[in-house]
Amino acid sequence: MTEPMPEPAGPRGSAMDFERALVLDTVRVTEQAAIAAARVAGKGDPDLVDQAGVDAMRRVLNELDIDGEIVIGEGERDEAPMLYIGERVGQGGPGAWPVDIAVDPVEGTDITARMVEGSVAVIALAEKGGLFQAPDTYMEKLIVPPPAAGKVDLTWPVAANLAGIAQALDRDLPDLTVVILDRPRHTELIAKVRAAGARVKLIGDGDVIAALSAAMSGTNVHAVMGTGGAPEGVLAAAALKCIGGEIQGRFVPRNEGERARLDTAGVDLARVYRTNDLAPGQHIVFSATGITNGDLVRGVRFFKQGARTHTVSMGYRSRVVRLSDAVHLLGEGARVTVQL
Ligand code: FBP
Repeated sequence: MTEPMPEPAGPRGSAMDFERALVLDTVRVTEQAAIAAARVAGKGDPDLVDQAGVDAMRRVLNELDIDGEIVIGEGERDEAPMLYIGERVGQGGPGAWPVDIAVDPVEGTDITARMVEGSVAVIALAEKGGLFQAPDTYMEKLIVPPPAAGKVDLTWPVAANLAGIAQALDRDLPDLTVVILDRPRHTELIAKVRAAGARVKLIGDGDVIAALSAAMSGTNVHAVMGTGGAPEGVLAAAALKCIGGEIQGRFVPRNEGERARLDTAGVDLARVYRTNDLAPGQHIVFSATGITNGDLVRGVRFFKQGARTHTVSMGYRSRVVRLSDAVHLLGEGARVTVQL
């Protein structure tokens, strides 16, 4: 566990004030990324939506009073021109808050390009060292809601974990819905979940927002299982740290190159990493804005001179989870009638 962020001196207030202020700032970051990506959604071009989201997210991040470093981003410096790992963002300068940042400006580029449900713009910030710098490999994940935290284990058989979740939620197995990425590698897992009696919701992309859906009640999602991106595992952990629930993850290299990267990063392939390992920070803020519609947040809706966004945001210490619905006036002199 990292040390808490040092209390700052001067008019900026305490570290808690910082966290509270930053939650609102991060909402603006994901809102703008979502609007930009949604503007070009449905055109069948994943690169276009990604570029739009990245540009917008980077622009707003650079307006913030932070000395930020991207620790999870679009890729290594040589493969991503913007929001690459190690890029500095924010106003910087004396007094700016030193933070580590994990971003996915368009979490679900393919589904955004196809305008299919479930894509979000997402970000997590923490004090330095507060987010695990996961290399971009795969991670086998098990994500469960707060009552089931501590009652499951990634190393157990699927049926045993489902039984643990059902018992913790006081539900029967047929009343459980498990989200799994729709990939050939999950054929066996899907069969096991179904054989145990639970229902499977297959998603095309986007296991970060699925993790939040599992952790929050009322979404009819009770767990996420299967292998997805490791960086997405850290983003999910940041949110779960704030709202409860649990992620357990095991790094899975896809090839020898990734195995070497994990080795260099000191990752133990046999170890099950938990929420606190992936998000050890004490001042974590998280925000996700819907690009396309989903279980938890609605996608961006455009109208003449405006756009409406739906965001879920939270802070670890500030203990507030916000579901915000915003109307943005777009363009000089835009006038919008806000409709309830
Ligand atoms: P992108 O943000 O790169 O579009 O990734 C979306 C996603 O579906 C993640 O949510 C998930 O963790 C990962 O891709 C799964 O990877 P793969 O598409 O290779 O199965």
